[in-house]
Amino acid sequence: LNIAMLFGGNSSEHDVSKRSAHNIYDAMDKEKYNVTIFLISKAGYIMNPQDSWRVFEGEDEDTIVEAAMKELDLNNPLAPIQNLGEMESIDLFYPVVHGNLGEDGTLQALFRLLQKPFIGAGTSASAMAFDKDLTKRILNQAGIRNTDYVLLTDQTQDDYTFAQLQERLQSDVLFVKAAKQGSSVGISRVTNEAEYQRGLQDALQYDYKVLVEAGLNRPREVFISVLGNEQPRVSKIGGIVLPENDEWYDYNNKFVDASGMVFELPAELPAETVAEVESMALKAYQALGLVGLTRMDFMLDADGVPYLGEPNTLPGFTNISLYPQMWQVSGLGYSELIDEIINYGLA
Ligand code: DAL
Ligand code: MG
Repeated sequence: LNIAMLFGGNSSEHDVSKRSAHNIYDAMDKEKYNVTIFLISKAGYIMNPQDSWRVFEGEDEDTIVEAAMKELDLNNPLAPIQNLGEMESIDLFYPVVHGNLGEDGTLQALFRLLQKPFIGAGTSASAMAFDKDLTKRILNQAGIRNTDYVLLTDQTQDDYTFAQLQERLQSDVLFVKAAKQGSSVGISRVTNEAEYQRGLQDALQYDYKVLVEAGLNRPREVFISVLGNEQPRVSKIGGIVLPENDEWYDYNNKFVDASGMVFELPAELPAETVAEVESMALKAYQALGLVGLTRMDFMLDADGVPYLGEPNTLPGFTNISLYPQMWQVSGLGYSELIDEIINYGLA
């Protein structure tokens, strides 16, 4: 089977994607799969395979990209995708691109235009699941518990003071989030007006739509992996315990310095909480029209009541990422997991 794997991408999660892609490539059974890799540069250009491999081999990416750019006809708007289009023998696309222009339906639309199967969610489901506002609208319609929020845009950013939002959301601590971002980029935990204004301006750099969400009081964060198409199944639930002085699971804890973090694999939870998280995850998967794979992030409040945080349709596969680890503790190894993801993409 000829697989084209894409990684990198034009988003704040470029570097995370490189780590995920390398792990997935290493775990793929090379007897079964002939894998060609394509780096998507930070500027969004899809590189040719020879240059892409050099990144896996540890050469400096910026230097490689700069040299390759000189060869490209930058006046040709299709130049970035020509490398893909010229490859006739691709049986399946395997996107390992997190975030904007990767996880948000755009790459998926390109695969559809090229009339090739691909792993993971389709165009519209990816777009809905990547937009925290649209996700919440679907969750609310399906009756799946999630935190209250107020939607602001660049036009309505001055409509509320922090105190008014606290009152409206019945919460002292609020989270400000860019609607379309991953890996906790563009998210701030805010407890006063000055922090709120800073968080709002930061989030507006990433998106014209910003969510202000009610914060749960030092919630317990738990995660579940979903795998499959029409009849998806769920892994055991994983949890994290943050370093004592950290308030939430931010980019630093996820990808920079995880040394103070404790992973609970699986998390010890009452049976009824496990059952509720499982059923909320599966219900959300179906409501959003997801296929392939998704990691669902939850928060448990002080009473242990679960709130669905968000779906991640192309979840991280770095060495400390939870999606594959949760399958591992559920009895599904890394390579077998990749086989299943591929098979669901072909189905
Ligand atoms: N967006 C990151 C990669 C994750 O959810 O794992
Ligand atoms: Mg996410």
